[in-house]
Amino acid sequence: MSTEFPVATPVIRPRRLRTTPAVRRLVAETRLHPAELILPLFAREGISEPAPINSMPGVVQHTRDSLRRAAVEAAEAGVGGIMLFGVPLVQDAIGSEGTNPDGILQQAIRDVVAEVGDALVVMSDLCLDEYTDHGHCGVLAADGSVDNDATLLRYAEMAVVQADAGVHMVGPSGMMDGQIAVVRDALDRAGHQDVSVLAYSAKYASAFFGPFREAVGSALKGDRKSYQQDPANGREALRELELDLAEGADLVMVKPAMAYLDVLRQVADVSPVPVAAYQVSGEYAMVEAAAANGWVDRDRMIMETLTSIRRAGASQVLTYWAVEVARKLR
Ligand code: PBG
Repeated sequence: MSTEFPVATPVIRPRRLRTTPAVRRLVAETRLHPAELILPLFAREGISEPAPINSMPGVVQHTRDSLRRAAVEAAEAGVGGIMLFGVPLVQDAIGSEGTNPDGILQQAIRDVVAEVGDALVVMSDLCLDEYTDHGHCGVLAADGSVDNDATLLRYAEMAVVQADAGVHMVGPSGMMDGQIAVVRDALDRAGHQDVSVLAYSAKYASAFFGPFREAVGSALKGDRKSYQQDPANGREALRELELDLAEGADLVMVKPAMAYLDVLRQVADVSPVPVAAYQVSGEYAMVEAAAANGWVDRDRMIMETLTSIRRAGASQVLTYWAVEVARKLR
């Protein structure tokens, strides 16, 4: 007769930590919080009523008044920041309205900073595509290509007018080489040492930006493949990160989010500064369209996509659902 204590090989049961809502809540690794959400907002010049964006149901181009109200709503919901985009009446080859001190984006910045500037971080998109009649993110050389260094001069001017208008953080999103260095230098020379730079470091030439083109009335013919990254490449995101850090980025971003969670994870693993991710217009439209057909559970899908983006390493998430989600989380 054996004297050994009988120990059966136990069934290992990970399901124990999934049994009740309380235990699931206790062990959740990833939590969403309103403070890390950033709401993109569009200010359109020359309209008297907010204008719906067809491909982004629930999102509008704002008048100056409705923009102010939307900013107040975001602040009241506890959202951490807003990212402003301008939609000018007039577009031209060099995007003049982008550097007009009274251009729509600069007006929007002034309005919103006066209204909610203490409650949340006010950010602005620093790019030319909303302002150019050809729709590219920069100015063109004689041969029609996007001229990197001529564009940098325009970005430097844009940074200063946006900072003069009171913005807290600029978001250079044009993927020109050297843009962070030039923007940082222009801000510092103009006495705006405290204005931060959120660098769109890894931004891909993505079909997921489709609905955004309608949102900003972009006239783009062709594509952005000569400056935005190839979806096939992950490694160069790390190179872009390194350069943006060396050039003085305060935060960095990966964009789009859901199709690039691997890139987000790689960047988040090594970045010494906060890493944001942008859940872009096409990601929003995809969920809204499927939900409108009754094909998916909209609310669960929104929370799941945002949780995945945070789990992949984003500290901040730009999302068109920011206010709705922030309210739900409070
Ligand atoms: C450039 C810019 C774009 C977006 C944000 N900033 C468009 C582009 O690069 O083509 C896309 C945002 C979205 O799709 O929600 N100004």
